[in-house]
Amino acid sequence: MSRLVIVSNRVADLRAGAHSGGLAVGLADALKERGGIWFGWDGEEDGTTGAEPQVETIGKVERIAASLSAEDLANYYLGYANSVLWPMFHYRLDLVDYQTEFSESYWRVNETFARQLMRFLNPDDLIWVHDYHLIPLAGFLRQLGCRQKIGFFLHIPFPPSDLLSAAPEHTRLVDALLNYDLIGFQTQTDVNNLRHYLVESATAEQLDENTFSFGDRILRIDRFPIGIDAAGFADMAIEADDEVVMDQMRRRILGRRQIIGLDRLDYSKGLPERFKAFGRLLEQHPELSKKVSFLQVASPTREAVDAYADIRIELETLTGSINGRFADFNWTPLRYINRAIPREVLAPLYRGSQVGFVTPLRDGMNLVAKEYVAAQKPSDPGVLVLSQFAGAAEELTEALIVNPYDIDEMARQLHRALEMPLDERRERHAALRQKVFQQDARAWLNSFLNVLEGAGAAPAKDLADQVLPGERTAQSS
Ligand code: G6P
Repeated sequence: MSRLVIVSNRVADLRAGAHSGGLAVGLADALKERGGIWFGWDGEEDGTTGAEPQVETIGKVERIAASLSAEDLANYYLGYANSVLWPMFHYRLDLVDYQTEFSESYWRVNETFARQLMRFLNPDDLIWVHDYHLIPLAGFLRQLGCRQKIGFFLHIPFPPSDLLSAAPEHTRLVDALLNYDLIGFQTQTDVNNLRHYLVESATAEQLDENTFSFGDRILRIDRFPIGIDAAGFADMAIEADDEVVMDQMRRRILGRRQIIGLDRLDYSKGLPERFKAFGRLLEQHPELSKKVSFLQVASPTREAVDAYADIRIELETLTGSINGRFADFNWTPLRYINRAIPREVLAPLYRGSQVGFVTPLRDGMNLVAKEYVAAQKPSDPGVLVLSQFAGAAEELTEALIVNPYDIDEMARQLHRALEMPLDERRERHAALRQKVFQQDARAWLNSFLNVLEGAGAAPAKDLADQVLPGERTAQSS
């Protein structure tokens, strides 16, 4: 079996336990089995780009942590990755802040990472690059003579070609993607979006539905919906600590139900719309006064980017106005927590909540939806209310699917979820649970690696004829 090389913007803590986050743990387990490397940024904010990376060997795995300067963090990570690609790929062209220095830093950091990683590679390694921060990595590796199979998985949505072509450098980005052997997306919509771009722009020749040739390279694109460690999360949900148990007992005595939401505080998550929908529910159903509360946890993220600071202020204002209008001396309808909460506390909170309210305006997959399902008690499960624009909606069709821009519709579906009879809850949950347990993190990982292993090998011939990132300029941009 080939060694596995995982590359992601942040290098994972390979010594952290199962409570650190499902996906990283799943990938780390696969690495420990096969042996290999995890390469990424060390998370420090004042390093030196290009400095000798820190290598830590843990069993058969090398953790390689690269350093970035404060300037590159501002330009590559906060700038190009999170102020250009993130909003653009989440269909928010209005929030794109394109600056030349962001772009320069993005391509340069990727080139630096490629050079640093190249020294550690073995000839038959399988390389798996993750997410939008690292689109150009394969191109730079190829330039340095890397012939190994390289796969790329995009954790966020891929935009339709019309939207993508509004972005500066779209041609360069798509050309960079063509250096991979396999590109995995969360949904069929994302696959279709790249396929249409490639067909419309005649960038690459289509060999079959999902396979393209580009020079002498073969690229396959496919859908690999990401999953969670469903069994592990379900177990975690059962072990509530004393404070969570007390909170649940109190609610039971008072006959109070709970709606729960958990997100990074990101404008793509549709939080203001969600808060408004809860307000609308209380307005339209005065009988729910003191009978239902909404707990929203929103962990801070990328706070140096203006769009994130703006959404925070908006939520604080909305929380104040909803509570000011509906609260009573012994009831706070909306509890909004603006910090991270450990997963082992969250899992039982999901289990004790009658509605999981997951309504992003656009989301690659949304693992919270899957975690909420996994955490439920099958004999008395809660109801998932899910945005049609979360990648998870392609699979989790038995949820109550809502349009997150339609506040009235969300309020109606919240009410329906709160009133849903036990039989219907059980039936919907059983179907959802089966999907979440079947398409779990392990299944996702194995299916991606199986396809990558069988993908067309990179050509061994002279790289001189090969088109490298940024070299093909004939395309309109
Ligand atoms: C999203 C991205 C990930 C990223 C995570 C946290 O899920 O797809 O690549 O790691 O957000 O964002 P951060 O900017 O804190 O790494």
